[in-house]
Amino acid sequence: MMETNIKMLLASDDDTIHNQILNAIGTNLSIQLVNPEDVVREINRDVQDIVIFVQPNNDIAVENIQHIKSVSPATLVIFIAKTSDFTLLRNITKAGASEFFVYPEEHGTFVARFPTIIKNYEISKQAQDGSVSTFVRGRGQIISFFSGSGGVGKTVLASTFAQTLKLESTAEVILIDLNLQFGGIETMISINSNRSIADLTPVIKELNESHIRNVSQTEEYSKMDVLISPCDAEVAETLSEEFIAKLLRTCRRSFDFVIIDLPSFVNNQVVTALEESDQIYYVLSPDTPSLKIMKQFEELCTRLGIELNSKTKIILNQTGKDNEVQEKDLKEVLRFPIEATIRRDIKGLQPFINKGEPIRKEVKERRLIPFAKDIKKWAHSVLK
Ligand SMILES: Nc1ncnc2c1ncn2[C@@H]1O[C@H](COP(=O)(O)OP(=O)(O)O)[C@@H](O)[C@H]1O
Ligand SMILES: [Mg+2]
Repeated sequence: MMETNIKMLLASDDDTIHNQILNAIGTNLSIQLVNPEDVVREINRDVQDIVIFVQPNNDIAVENIQHIKSVSPATLVIFIAKTSDFTLLRNITKAGASEFFVYPEEHGTFVARFPTIIKNYEISKQAQDGSVSTFVRGRGQIISFFSGSGGVGKTVLASTFAQTLKLESTAEVILIDLNLQFGGIETMISINSNRSIADLTPVIKELNESHIRNVSQTEEYSKMDVLISPCDAEVAETLSEEFIAKLLRTCRRSFDFVIIDLPSFVNNQVVTALEESDQIYYVLSPDTPSLKIMKQFEELCTRLGIELNSKTKIILNQTGKDNEVQEKDLKEVLRFPIEATIRRDIKGLQPFINKGEPIRKEVKERRLIPFAKDIKKWAHSVLK
């Protein structure tokens, strides 16, 4: 759990539920347990950032939440319901609760969401100084990182771009590794897990957000969700096009940004991902071989009937003074616009890559390497 100086109240008269919640929250956050009857007194006594209100045995909840919000409008109220009673939940929401979870079924969802709830609360507190953008929710965007060339930076760009979006906005972000045979993301950000995308196979027909959150990992620093590759060629083969399509469509409903890292070849799974994408970032390094491969990819897409024109943009990676091809020469030969230009930054990047450390760790990083600065500029243009 993150470091924070947030003050929280847990109002509950239900031992089972509040012990479950206290165990999940851990000891790093300070949280005070009170009886629901005493919430009003506590709110009058001291400012609270977050109140988790567990549905009490009597029906004082709506009234108490109204009181909390009138005395302290900035306090975030999370309601834990014991039944999914529609009228109650509607009244609770009207009274000003921001979120509710129905127990015990949604305990897992609560645990998965809680860090983001805290982070978004902190972001909205800081929003006055203009350092972070608050994100307006809509239909999630699927963004794929592709290139016919290997080693051009797809994986490191997709991963750092996703971290940046997550850290510098309130958007919900999921990073998906569709290098199904060999993986890559898990090494880049040191995630050890025995769960992978392939674990969704048994539930793919009725796939929903909690299945995805159960299988995904939360990256330690940015708290973005990550779906890891099975890293197994035989398992990879069993994942059908329908599986990929269903996965991406379900992710789009629950996340604002679905960032996909793709391999350097085209097969049916890759075609499906490209077709489902709202945006394709083609990673190009400024040299003749890469340009040639990109032309071949364009021709292949024409033959396969994949529409690229409306959604493909180029990420020019590893630029520098000594490049064979310069940006201004490129503009004349490219069919797609250049969305971002990322400097070659071997000195800055290598230590992170070698240690398997995420490149972004905090919202306000004291020292960003040039690579991360270029990505920050690009991510903010996307968030606008
Ligand atoms: N802008 C850059 N400056 C310096 N090194 C880079 C840059 N972009 C990528 N690299 C390096 O290139 C290597 C391959 O990157 P990777 O993301 O694995 O490529 P891909 O996924 O396209 O195969 C990595 O070691 C990475 O550190
Ligand atoms: Mg890769």
